[in-house]
Amino acid sequence: MDLKGKVAYITGGTKGIGYGIAESLLAQGMKVAISGRSQKSVDEALMGLNNKENVVGIVSDVSKLADEVNAVDTILKQWGQLDVVMANAGVGHFAPIDEMSDKDWHSMIDTNLNGVFHTLKASVEALKKSEGYYMTLASLAGTNFFATAAGYNATKFGVVGFTQAAMLDLRKYNIKVTTIMPGSVATHFNDHVPSDKDAWKIQPEDIGQLVVDLLKMHPRTLPSKIEVRPTRPDLK
Ligand SMILES: NC(=O)c1ccc[n+]([C@@H]2O[C@H](COP(=O)([O-])OP(=O)(O)OC[C@H]3O[C@@H](n4cnc5c(N)ncnc54)[C@H](OP(=O)(O)O)[C@@H]3O)[C@@H](O)[C@H]2O)c1
Repeated sequence: MDLKGKVAYITGGTKGIGYGIAESLLAQGMKVAISGRSQKSVDEALMGLNNKENVVGIVSDVSKLADEVNAVDTILKQWGQLDVVMANAGVGHFAPIDEMSDKDWHSMIDTNLNGVFHTLKASVEALKKSEGYYMTLASLAGTNFFATAAGYNATKFGVVGFTQAAMLDLRKYNIKVTTIMPGSVATHFNDHVPSDKDAWKIQPEDIGQLVVDLLKMHPRTLPSKIEVRPTRPDLK
């Protein structure tokens, strides 16, 4: 894909991995829409991004299909096409399953799992037109289970299965579909505050570079499921 002038939508692009991907795609000359749940978080993110003429911020909660339909309509009205969709928005709540609250369980299912479907549902006709690319941000928690993560594991195992099946459905339209499964990334996930102590982790811009590499891959080749992890977890 020649990236200059292509249009991307990144859900949950106000911070963390989504923001890092936004920076990387803007540096390639792409037009980028980012979303988040509040006007405040969207506005703060927009202030930090370069290439202001190529970026828009949209308030959208991925747990609501109507929000995602509105987000895609806004992008199509603004730029007339949609080439790359990153279903990145996600939350994590960790507790032994007997202590997991109903609210936290549903928050993860609604955002991490229902959200990726809503984003695809809202954008798939535009992606058919552009013969574009749809990616999800799953996690190594989509293949490795661990204590306190029953809810998060359930969503991320689900996202991996969802994305792989969607890939089989959509490749006949020349839509590429990939799920990226990172290990620890230095972000604000689960109220973490990134610091120097996170130097051993994957950095958001590394995932941005990975996305650029995927977009530039030859049209005939599709890395459909990618595990990516810190090289030196022993340095933690
Ligand atoms: N950090 C890691 O180690 C790691 C590892 C593997 C996978 N992941 C996955 O990577 C993705 C991004 O996480 P992150 O680490 O970058 O976390 P983060 O720094 O907390 O960022 C999360 C982003 O998601 C947005 N968001 C949350 N709920 C949303 C909703 N319902 N609708 C729209 N946007 C929503 C947030 O925006 P607002 O707050 O502005 O709404 C924010 O932009 C998640 O799916 C996560 O599960 C993270």
